[in-house]
Amino acid sequence: MKKYIISASFSLAFFIIVLSTISAQQAEEPKGKILFKESKCVSCHAVESQGFVKKGKSSAPDLSDVGTKHKDIEWLKKYLTKQETMNDLKHAISFKGDEEELQTLSEWLTTLKKESAPKDSTK
Ligand code: HEC
Repeated sequence: MKKYIISASFSLAFFIIVLSTISAQQAEEPKGKILFKESKCVSCHAVESQGFVKKGKSSAPDLSDVGTKHKDIEWLKKYLTKQETMNDLKHAISFKGDEEELQTLSEWLTTLKKESAPKDSTK
């Protein structure tokens, strides 16, 4: 019986450690990333570099390299609230959060850059 209690408390301690590690990792996620997830951007867009995989059949592009393409935060903010167009088209949805969230989200998007491929020095 005593043995059982000891092993049970070991498993409990282990469980608590695992749980706290997981929540610490979540706390480290950038706010922009959390907003991206919570705003359902992930229902259309994949961002493979951030672990968001493609869902459904949307034609929305993967945004892993969007920061290379769009560096202008002000433009992104307007595009995401349908005040700006890209190729004469407005974005599919208008962001519903407040100004501060829009800023945070847009800033985060400009940080998304794929590592540039290492230069091949043998050629
Ligand atoms: C209903 C589907 C849908 C949702 C939800 C959605 N998007 Fe999009 N988004 C698209 C499509 C489709 C395009 C491509 C538009 C085009 O090429 O004209 C796009 C384009 C973009 C672009 C420009 C990409 C590029 O290559 O220039 C950005 C940035 C973007 N979305 C961010 C977001 C963010 C941030 C959210 C969440 C607030 C979001 N999207 C939610 C469908 C969606």
